[in-house]
Amino acid sequence: MAKGVGYGKVILLGEHFVVHGCPAIAAGLSNAVIVELERADEDEIISDKRIVKELTTASVDAIRNSMGIKRKHRINHTGDLPPYGGLGSSAAFCVALVRAFAEDEHKALTDEEVNRHAYEGEKVFHGNPSGIDNTIATYGGVIFFKRGKTQADNVFDKIPLKDPLDIVVTFTGKPGPTSKMVASVKEMADSDPEQFAQLLDEAKEIVNVGRHAIERGKKFTIGALMNSNQQLLQEIGVSDEANDEINKIALDNKALGSKLTGGGGGGCCISLVKDKAHAEKITRAMKKEGFASFYSRIE
Ligand code: MEV
Repeated sequence: MAKGVGYGKVILLGEHFVVHGCPAIAAGLSNAVIVELERADEDEIISDKRIVKELTTASVDAIRNSMGIKRKHRINHTGDLPPYGGLGSSAAFCVALVRAFAEDEHKALTDEEVNRHAYEGEKVFHGNPSGIDNTIATYGGVIFFKRGKTQADNVFDKIPLKDPLDIVVTFTGKPGPTSKMVASVKEMADSDPEQFAQLLDEAKEIVNVGRHAIERGKKFTIGALMNSNQQLLQEIGVSDEANDEINKIALDNKALGSKLTGGGGGGCCISLVKDKAHAEKITRAMKKEGFASFYSRIE
């Protein structure tokens, strides 16, 4: 059996705007997708998660095509990354699959090659992805990412953290329809380019200031920037009622900042907290209101 792993992510600042040229900051999670595969007479995808079979099959084909692989495979998809939407599960699957195919073919790939092939699969899931999800799933850590004209022009830097960031990830209960949300933001950008350009400028400022705050360990500033970012996400219509409710619960319980993460329209929110004990308090508050959440430390 050949095996590959791809890690999930949260976007700390800049989702959606990143599709339109704004930088964004993403952080890898320790939760991962695992793909194990073997050669077979017929293609088969087995998953312990709720996946969209047609999209997954098309994504597998796109990646095989990109890697020049002509065989069929039995593919087993597992791991502890919740397929909630917003946590990069499709990109993590693509990266895990590329790594598993490479092992099966006895090919040593650079991370740059893994990322490039994974992007072909990610396009099947998300139509017009910025490439941030497959990049963080490939490299991990915390990255400052900016989309280029083509995937080869994308640029990213690893951000060194002064201090770890403690976060609570809360699931709205509704998988986030990322490709639909990305399409609706594009519609808005096309229908009112001036207003969108203004929002884009505000998002750029938030992300650039956020990078310095992360590098200097200024948690209160990061939290305030997350809240400002959330307001912009509300303005472009990607934060739904559950996202807003979760952020309110977090802030009522003294989170330093709280926002949706990823595509929105449901999916997940992230709340920046002071420490693990504070995370536990917020997790209890979320549970009381019927929301599942988990604690994660970004370092
Ligand atoms: C999804 O995790 C992040 C979005 O910005 C889409 C993308 O960048 O491809 C919503």
